[in-house]
Amino acid sequence: MSIESAWVPVGRAEDVPLLEGRSVTVGARRIAIFRLPDDTWAAVDNACPHKGGPLADGIVADACVTCPLHGRRFDLATGAQHGGDDVVGVYAVRVGEDGTLELLVPAALMVGSA
Ligand code: FES
Repeated sequence: MSIESAWVPVGRAEDVPLLEGRSVTVGARRIAIFRLPDDTWAAVDNACPHKGGPLADGIVADACVTCPLHGRRFDLATGAQHGGDDVVGVYAVRVGEDGTLELLVPAALMVGSA
């Protein structure tokens, strides 16, 4: 049986301020992790599908992130663009008892780091 996805440690929860993002590298991909109100978290592909803007540096409000380059806005729960057809990949996030941030990523994403 193959493993289709796995929880991968990517840093410390305490290093991500409320309503800010941090980008982490998993395999060959950069993923933006965001701390949201009420101890909730979100993670999406860091590269904006328009021209690769760093979504981790975007403004977070109303469970959406706005790309810092040209202002496209993405829902952090679904990855869907507001008012457009672009979509970014979304990932599950959890915080371990010791404060370690973990992302649930597809095994295929891990293979792409060569
Ligand atoms: S690169 Fe994100 S809106 Fe243009």
